Amino acid sequence: MTVLGLVASAAGGVEQWLVDDLARPLAGRGWRLAVTLTPTVARWLEPQLAALAATTDLPVRWTPRLPTEPKPHPVPDAFVFAPATANSLAKLALGIGDNQALTVLCEALGRRTPMVVLPQVSEDQAAHPAYQGHLAVLRSAGVVFAADPASVTRVLDRVAPFVAFGENRSNNACG
Ligand SMILES: Cc1cc2nc3c(=O)[nH]c(=O)nc-3n(C[C@H](O)[C@H](O)[C@H](O)COP(=O)(O)O)c2cc1C
Repeated sequence: MTVLGLVASAAGGVEQWLVDDLARPLAGRGWRLAVTLTPTVARWLEPQLAALAATTDLPVRWTPRLPTEPKPHPVPDAFVFAPATANSLAKLALGIGDNQALTVLCEALGRRTPMVVLPQVSEDQAAHPAYQGHLAVLRSAGVVFAADPASVTRVLDRVAPFVAFGENRSNNACG
């Protein structure tokens, strides 16, 4: 089964749709989900954690492992980063891996792993002078942007067609 890294950050309303409108449909399409949360959204999603965990056989993560512990997730074949806050999107563009979610995203971008990002930012956040530059950096690294949770699966099929149908098994090594 191909592995999809699903990363979520703390954008308003995420608790309303992450499980029902994203994680469950993706798992239903045959992806094995490797879910990593930012520390802030992990707190927000406490009431939804059991339902989120039920979408995958892998642990839902938000803390880094100890150096003596094995990596709990295999290396994903593709990534969905949804929702992406202005904060975490900026950190990804700059290569700042200061939590487990950004660490896996930054490494995935370095490997040019197919990645769909769903930004959710306010008008003021989008008007920050660095924001368009961050989008451009991500776009230049092959990131494809989705407009809403419902379109993530469609966009993912476009950026990772061979991965989605299990034809690219070369990146399945346990990291
Ligand atoms: C109720 C609430 C809603 C928020 N909605 C958003 C949002 O839609 N987009 C965004 O970029 N930040 C939003 N924020 C701010 C982020 O949660 C904040 O920048 C946080 O540090 C992001 O952390 P993370 O990127 O590590 O998850 C919101 C904050 C609160 C309290």
